Amino acid sequence: MSADIKLEKLQESLQTRRFGKCIYFSRCVNSTNDWAKELASSGAEEGTVTVAQTQTAGRGRAGREWISPRGGLWFSIVLKPTKRAREASQLVFVASLVVAEVLQEKYGLKTETKWPNDVLVNDKKICGILTEMRTKEERVNFAIVGVGVNANFLVDEVLPASVKAVATSVEFELRKRIRLESLLRALLEKMENVYERYERAGFAPVLEEWKRYAGFLGRSVVVTDRNERLNGLALDVDVEGALILRLEDGTTRRIFVGDVALVSGVPD
Ligand code: BTN
Repeated sequence: MSADIKLEKLQESLQTRRFGKCIYFSRCVNSTNDWAKELASSGAEEGTVTVAQTQTAGRGRAGREWISPRGGLWFSIVLKPTKRAREASQLVFVASLVVAEVLQEKYGLKTETKWPNDVLVNDKKICGILTEMRTKEERVNFAIVGVGVNANFLVDEVLPASVKAVATSVEFELRKRIRLESLLRALLEKMENVYERYERAGFAPVLEEWKRYAGFLGRSVVVTDRNERLNGLALDVDVEGALILRLEDGTTRRIFVGDVALVSGVPD
């Protein structure tokens, strides 16, 4: 099966009200997030999508490089949530819930969400999400949700050694390639539904569903950010999206920014 995306097929069958009604495709861009940002700055509608076969400057969280070979699904969507700026980080939960559900329901993959922005299969990252936004005072002007799914390639063949050990792909897990346009269609359809529910009913129901996939809860983890490295037990994620970590001295900490690595073995 081709590693490429067939846009006409997607648009023929897409069952959304707004999401993906306007899709921009390129064989190669710097970053679909940057592209979506430019479009949103010049007035693009909510639900506008940018998608690329490869990215030359794909970005991950904390300014990290996101390697984006052909065969992956690299796309971004313009959102205009009616939320306060400090609530907009909740969009990463909306998006990771959507990816976890679609990969599980449509392809039978046993997906898990990992705080704050990853989707894993067999403890390895299959998808990352990068949310960026432009704010005006307390309000969000627009947000860009960028989604990178390692789809039709084998990690061992195309990703550098530093990433191989912690990443997987749909092709590796299923031992076959999938149709990228079908995956994108399913993601946009579910994204529209979950996002509209989030706008109507707030973050709590999204978080509850997200936690059903959060296999890291109850596990020993190491959390790192620029200044700190903490070992502990991942207890919960609270209504503000903060990770609650029980430290080895028995105290708890609320963590807003950081990377979680799973520690193998059963916690005490
Ligand atoms: C992460 O796990 O650190 C987030 C990775 C996000 C990658 C996607 S690929 C599409 C979009 N364009 C980018 O430059 N980044 C996101």
